[in-house]
Amino acid sequence: MKTFFIAAVVATLGCGLALQAQVREHPIPHIVHSDGRFALMVDGAPFLMLGAQANNSSDWPATLPKVWSAIEYLHANTLEIPIYWEQFEPKQGQFDYSEIDTILAQAREHHVHLVLLWFGTWKNGSQHYMPEWMKLEPQRYSHVTNKSGELVDSPSPLAKASLDADIHAFTAFMRHLKAADPERTVLMVQVENETGTWGSLRDYSPEANKLFESPVPAEVLKAMNNAPSTGSASWEDVFGLEADVYFHAWATARYVGQVAAAGKAVYPLPMYVNAALRDPLKPETPGTYESGGPTDNVIPIWKAEAPAIDILAPDIYLLDTPTYLKVLELYHRPDNALFIPETAGTPRAARFLFSALGLQAIGYSPFGLDYTRTRPAQSREPDALNAFLEPTAQNYRLIGPMMRDVARLNFEGKLQALAEVEGEPTQTLHFGTWDAVVSFGVSRRGGQAKGNLEPVGRALVAQLNENQFLVTGYDCRVDFRPAGTEQQQAQHIVVGTGQTPSALIDGTWQHRQFLRVEEGAYENGAFKFQRILNGDQTDWGLSFGSEPEVLRVSVATY
Ligand code: DGJ
Repeated sequence: MKTFFIAAVVATLGCGLALQAQVREHPIPHIVHSDGRFALMVDGAPFLMLGAQANNSSDWPATLPKVWSAIEYLHANTLEIPIYWEQFEPKQGQFDYSEIDTILAQAREHHVHLVLLWFGTWKNGSQHYMPEWMKLEPQRYSHVTNKSGELVDSPSPLAKASLDADIHAFTAFMRHLKAADPERTVLMVQVENETGTWGSLRDYSPEANKLFESPVPAEVLKAMNNAPSTGSASWEDVFGLEADVYFHAWATARYVGQVAAAGKAVYPLPMYVNAALRDPLKPETPGTYESGGPTDNVIPIWKAEAPAIDILAPDIYLLDTPTYLKVLELYHRPDNALFIPETAGTPRAARFLFSALGLQAIGYSPFGLDYTRTRPAQSREPDALNAFLEPTAQNYRLIGPMMRDVARLNFEGKLQALAEVEGEPTQTLHFGTWDAVVSFGVSRRGGQAKGNLEPVGRALVAQLNENQFLVTGYDCRVDFRPAGTEQQQAQHIVVGTGQTPSALIDGTWQHRQFLRVEEGAYENGAFKFQRILNGDQTDWGLSFGSEPEVLRVSVATY
C-alpha cells in the first residue's frame, strides 16, 4: 500500500478551490485462485461480499437515503447499484460523472463497498438503458430481428455501432473510476445486465444469417468439446436444435467480452456477467429461457469468447431446494468462482447463503433490498417495513463481523457450511478425524431430529486445528463425532447425562468429549472469548437458535 497526494478539485459555493487531500491508495481488488478455490482479495486479504442489490431506479440523489437506511439495517458490507448509460452519456460523447461521484462519496460515508452494475447495451435482454440518442436511431443501433423479420425489444449483439458506443462509454466510466477511487470503494463491476434476448432465439437479420451459415469458430468447437469440423460445418450442422441459442451466446459473449476487455485495459477491476437462468433440473427447450446469456448450457462458450469476464454469476430466483443447490453446483467450477449477485431475500431462501459458503462463494447479494419499494398494501410500521430485510439482516449480523475469517478459512479449504434440506433432518460434514453432525428440529434434550417446521436451519463449521473448530449457525444443533465408517458411526451410546457421539475405530470405541466450548463474539475481526459453555448448554450437543452465536470448540476422545 502506498500513500500519495492526489489533487482533488472541490467546487465550493460556486468558486473552484484546489485542495490537496491525502488519500491512501489501496491495492486493486482482484480474484486469486489456488487448489480449485477462489478468494476476492481486498486490501491484501480474502473478503466476503455480504451484499444487497438496490432496486433498478434507486441510484438517484432523491432515493439514495432510502437505500442507505436499508443497508444499515442489513449490516451489508457491499451495495450493488446500477450506473445508467442513459444518465451517464445523455448526449453522444458527453459524460456526466455526477452519479458515480455521488455514490462513491456516500458509500465512503457509510463505510460500505460498492459493486457497480453497468446498465449498458443490455438490461434484462432489452436495450432500455441506451441513451435517447441511440434509441432514436434503431437502424444504426440495431435490434434483434426475429424469424418473421420483425424488430424485437432486444439489442443485436452484431450491431457494430452499438458495440463501439458501449466501449466508448464503458471505458470513460472505468477511466473515471480509476481516477476517483484510489480507496477501492468499488470492488467489482458487472458488465451489462442479464444479457441475451427474450422473444427470439437469435438475430435473424441477413447479416446474422450469413454468419450462422458460416463454419463454427474453432474456439467454440473446442469449448463445447466438438471435433474440429472438416471444412464448413455450420452452426446447425454441428449443434442441431441448440444451434440458435449457441450462436446467440457466441455473438453476445463476443460483444460483452470486448466491452469488458476495453474497460479492463483502462482499470483492471474484477468483472462479471449475471445470468438469467434456465431451470437446470428440467431439460428446457430453447425459447423457454433467455437466449444468449451465460445460462449453464453455454458457460464454456462464454468462457472462450469473453476471457476478460472473471465470473459468470447466476441470478437465482428458482427457489425450490434441489434447483437452488443445482444452480450453485453448476456455477461453482474450477474456472469460475461462485458469486450470487441476485437472489431472493425470503426467510426460506436466506439459508442458501450457507450452501453458497459451502462452495466457497466470494459474495452473495439478495435483490431489491431498499426502502424504495412502494407496495400499496405495505404497512408504514417500521417492523413491517423491515420484514423483507430481516432474513438477510439475520445472516449478516452473524457472518458480517467474522467475514474476513470466513473468507480466509474458506480459501484455505478449512470451512464447510450447509443449509437445511427438506426431508434430511441430519447432514454430516467431514473434517479428517472428526465429523460434524448437523441436526435440524431436535428438542432441547436430544432425541430424534425431525427437521424444522420451516426449513430455515443453517450451519457453518471451520477447522482451526485438528481438534478445534469454529462453529456457528441458526436453528440447528451441531455435534462432533470421531470419524469412522458409516455403520460404526451410526451408534450413539448414552453415557451419563448426555448423548455421547462415538465410533468404533480399530476395534475400540472412541467417544467424543468436549474439552472446552467457548462462546464469544467477533470484535474488530477477531474472536473474543466471553464465557465457557458446559452442563445443559453442551450435554446434548451445541444448539443454535435465532440469535447470532459463535462458538470455538475443542474436542478430544476417551
Ligand atoms: C433480474 C434483473 O437483473 C434485475 O435488474 C431485476 O430486474 C430483477 N430481475 C427483477 O426485479
